[in-house]
Amino acid sequence: MQPKWLHEAATRGSRIDTPPFQSYNRSTQTQSCSGGATMANFDLSGKTALVTGASSGLGRSFAKTLSGAGANVILAARRVEQLQALREEIEAGGGRAEIVKMDVTSDASIEAAFEQAWQLMGPVRIIVNNAGIAATKRMLDKDEGEWRRVLDTNLIGAANVARAAAQRLVDAKLSGGSIINIASILGLQSALGVAIYAASKAALLSLTRSLALEWGRKGIRVNAIAPGYVKTDLSKEFFDRKAEKLIDQIPLKKFVDPSDLDGPLLLLASDASSWMTGSTLVVDAGHSLVFEA
Ligand SMILES: NC(=O)c1ccc[n+]([C@@H]2O[C@H](COP(=O)([O-])OP(=O)(O)OC[C@H]3O[C@@H](n4cnc5c(N)ncnc54)[C@H](OP(=O)(O)O)[C@@H]3O)[C@@H](O)[C@H]2O)c1
Repeated sequence: MQPKWLHEAATRGSRIDTPPFQSYNRSTQTQSCSGGATMANFDLSGKTALVTGASSGLGRSFAKTLSGAGANVILAARRVEQLQALREEIEAGGGRAEIVKMDVTSDASIEAAFEQAWQLMGPVRIIVNNAGIAATKRMLDKDEGEWRRVLDTNLIGAANVARAAAQRLVDAKLSGGSIINIASILGLQSALGVAIYAASKAALLSLTRSLALEWGRKGIRVNAIAPGYVKTDLSKEFFDRKAEKLIDQIPLKKFVDPSDLDGPLLLLASDASSWMTGSTLVVDAGHSLVFEA
């Protein structure tokens, strides 16, 4: 269940034992760079992570990766049957997972899910804000409903999940939170036919920076990952229609696999990125450098 690189580091003899959870402490700012960072910084043993949209695609992969690094994982989404199958898979690999039903477009559902998550696994310090939907309408093919659905899920939903998570940590006077927003390279550059989706992801990147600013002093970090195109339920139609033609334009001549996000995810989730906040990690094999979509 461990990501390959973490497993290899462990077998090479790098330390991956459990560090005490690093609390936010001004005195640590004076530590000099030792040059001896160990794999211990990436270890998530004893920490609880919540992944929204864990029922398929990237969210499923994120949950397994976090579990492989030692985290107890809360699986959140609307389709509970899929979450149950994932929980069984994680448990069969020796991990610990629990399920909460969550619709990110409903405040009441988010609140109930966080309440349940804390009861099941204690303070949730790592949040992967991954739930999202696509939109394919062009602006002149006006569809008010689609605008609302996409913004309610990809932007307002993510904001409300982040707020619910941060509020609980602040109320409990706990620091050491890490919120990871899953945006897209379409939040950095646009393409034909994705105006609504691209706007939602650009706004999510802006929100990432604003929340990082607001919550830094409370010991809560907020960062984003902007993946290139990954073949999942969300993008299947695009891949079926266009992927072959596009691949030659991408510098590294590949689309993103969910496992390509393991390293960036663990970096942002763990103490290895203790001093990163407001950052966006682009993982796209160079696609956004030569943008075509
Ligand atoms: N695939 C790509 O090329 C790509 C590229 C860049 C970024 N992304 C982003 O990556 C994230 C995951 O997408 P994916 O590609 O893995 O697509 P996916 O397989 O369709 O997964 C989307 C997930 O979001 C959940 N979701 C949707 N609406 C929800 C709601 N109202 N409440 C709770 N959960 C909801 C779904 O769960 P339920 O239906 O069970 O609720 C599902 O698990 C999205 O934010 C997407 O924008 C994807």
